Amino acid sequence: MDLAALEKQLRTLQADAASRIAAVQTTPDLDELGSSLLGKRGAITEILRGIGALPADDRPKIGVVANEVRAAIDALVNTRRDALSAGELLARIERERVDATTPGPAPRVGSLHPIPETIAAIAEIMSSFGFVVAEGQEIEDDVTNFQLLNIPEDHPSRDLWDTLYLQEPGRLLRTHTSPGQIRTMKAGGPPIRVILPGRCFRYEAVDASHGFEFHQVEGLLVDRGATLADLKGILDELAKGLFGAAARTRFRPGYYPFTEPSVAVDVSWPGSKDGWMTILGAGMVHPVVLENGGIDPETHQGFAFGLGVERIAMLRHDIPDLRTFLENDLRFLAGFR
Ligand code: DAH
Repeated sequence: MDLAALEKQLRTLQADAASRIAAVQTTPDLDELGSSLLGKRGAITEILRGIGALPADDRPKIGVVANEVRAAIDALVNTRRDALSAGELLARIERERVDATTPGPAPRVGSLHPIPETIAAIAEIMSSFGFVVAEGQEIEDDVTNFQLLNIPEDHPSRDLWDTLYLQEPGRLLRTHTSPGQIRTMKAGGPPIRVILPGRCFRYEAVDASHGFEFHQVEGLLVDRGATLADLKGILDELAKGLFGAAARTRFRPGYYPFTEPSVAVDVSWPGSKDGWMTILGAGMVHPVVLENGGIDPETHQGFAFGLGVERIAMLRHDIPDLRTFLENDLRFLAGFR
């Protein structure tokens, strides 16, 4: 083995390496090729084994050539690596591209039952007038459901409010939310602005517009100088909130033992089919009822109203039969988004 032969081997390796490096397509393959050429057991090392057979003068010369070849191959590998990794990065960006404008899977959105939905709508409107939501109790006593509301035991209006009685004497399922007025007045003095939503019960033959179990929302305001005009204004806003800004209200004289004077309130709106619809009863709280709630009717006045939630929900959503509210038919209930 002489100097010329070794040098030729090295140059051949360099030329050969250049074409192999150019042909490599991935960085792992390039790394492998690089170490098979330049590594401790690589091709250059292999060739330099022959150095021992050279005359001492020639050894440094072949060392110079070997270093040149090594540097040249190293430079080719580095250049190729830069090119490959730039391409691989682009490919990865392309592969992992996320289209942020693609609509996601639609969530399954449920809906409130039309009764709590209607109660929430009423609470929302009334809260803008400073009314807070409170609860009465479904099991009432005769005294609070009737007597303190100015309905004595022999009062004829009790016929309208017959209900289910518990075995315990004097205990019954409330026939309206009005006893909540008494409980609210007793629980804290005026000023009072409260609505009392809840379930009520009556001895009633069930049909499309009557249930033995139904919901009411009671409203009560007690303050100095409250007037029927205030009541009218608030109920007119309530009607507009529920039936649209074009809704109009009409107040007719009515009768309830716990209010004096009493009114019946009708509403009419552009889409209403049957003209004026009666939606609630209301009035100025009877002085006897204020007294029964611990409030002096000389210094404070109040107004109250009571509305049937089923009726409002039926009118708002064009539901013909209130029995559907209790049937739990999901095809019906899913319609109230
Ligand atoms: N409690 C009455 C009923 O169930 C409704 C009612 C009328 C409530 C007039 C009131 C009111 O607060 O002032 O038929």
